[in-house]
Amino acid sequence: MQLEALNKIATQMVAPGKGILAADESTGTIKKRFDAIGVESTEENRRDYRELLFRTTDAMQNYISGVILYDETIRQNAKDGTPLVKLIEQAGSIPGIKVDKGAKPLPFCPGETVTEGLDGLADRLKEYYGLGARFAKWRAVIDIAPGNIPSYTAIMANAHALARYAALCQEANIVPIVEPEVLMDGDHDMARCYQVTELVLKLVFEQLYFHRVALEGMILKPNMVVPGKKSGRKASVEEVAENTVRVLKAAVPAAVPGVAFLSGGQSDEEATAHLSAMNALGNLPWTLTFSYGRALQAAPQKAWAGKAENVKAAQAAFAHRARMNSLAQRGEWSPALEKAA
Ligand code: 13P
Repeated sequence: MQLEALNKIATQMVAPGKGILAADESTGTIKKRFDAIGVESTEENRRDYRELLFRTTDAMQNYISGVILYDETIRQNAKDGTPLVKLIEQAGSIPGIKVDKGAKPLPFCPGETVTEGLDGLADRLKEYYGLGARFAKWRAVIDIAPGNIPSYTAIMANAHALARYAALCQEANIVPIVEPEVLMDGDHDMARCYQVTELVLKLVFEQLYFHRVALEGMILKPNMVVPGKKSGRKASVEEVAENTVRVLKAAVPAAVPGVAFLSGGQSDEEATAHLSAMNALGNLPWTLTFSYGRALQAAPQKAWAGKAENVKAAQAAFAHRARMNSLAQRGEWSPALEKAA
């Protein structure tokens, strides 16, 4: 492991005004997104769509530090034969790869999952490094539901797997994005989200320590602290920002270079507003930025709708969201800027 090199990549991933594009939807998930815009999920359409994003030069060069890819995409070529990975590199952005194999039912824990994918991971990481990946992602899913969910069993199984994954990544000179996502589905209030997020983060960092992961060479990708979607409650932007920063300060060591949030089902603008409010608080030990999937891609997907004549409009929509989130990374976003575009 070359810690200095890992730290350099991790620092680039959270460079000022920049964040990560999560374009690593599995074949099943991208089909859902394409269904919503009436596009057939063929290999070619998936390639065309992602090529469109990676060729949005202004956004890629100025606001997107790295792109998380799915296995299919890291091996794909653009229409003109250029590997998609090259397009990302040419824009000065870093290619990354999702390496987990999804959340699978956890025995004796009804309704809960553990993320799989550790078997053979060392070999896969070696191959992905050869294909250009310099960071990776593993997503653990923690649900909040009645009946003592999440269980300690589920949290520990996931924390352990995240730490094993992170150690394997670092050994392969790949920066791990450690993503323990506490879902925002459910009817719980914000205090419950805070409590579960705190427990999950503390146990994840304990496992990272036990597995000798160098915190300086990783990025954390957490959820924000929000009330459950079905709770009927709405928190203010300030409440979300304050609670999220409070839980991070309580549980995330300052040695971690950066925290890159998932959007998790928040609207585009909510995700941007929350990030900006957190950064406006200032006095943070780590860089806070975005690693959004839906909150960066919903607008371009809608504008594109699978039609070649819409590519320019889709790229403009992507560039706009990337710029708004770049401003949020600096704590400088305001609703008025959305309209000024
Ligand atoms: P969302 O921003 O859509 O939650 O996706 C981020 C991600 O990478 C989830 O694993």
